[in-house]
Amino acid sequence: MASISLGDNKIELADGSEIKDAAETLGIPFSCKDGVCGTCLIKVKEGKENLSAPNNKEKEFGLTDKSERLACQCKIKSGNVKIESAY
Ligand code: FES
Repeated sequence: MASISLGDNKIELADGSEIKDAAETLGIPFSCKDGVCGTCLIKVKEGKENLSAPNNKEKEFGLTDKSERLACQCKIKSGNVKIESAY
């Protein structure tokens, strides 16, 4: 079981699942959900190694490491990932 947390709130989700629904519930804003607009940009505070590698849309957006991610694009492998909005 994996989990996403923001502040004092935590949501559990299945290993390997997309994080966008959990991130949205935690208060991260979304718009396109297609890796284009950048609205869902998050900072990964802890557990960046637990996220999938940046995909091509994230790379095209200019994200090359795992500290900043597009929440609509990444998946969680397992464990906990602590996030906050990048804005
Ligand atoms: S919601 Fe637009 S890039 Fe994620």
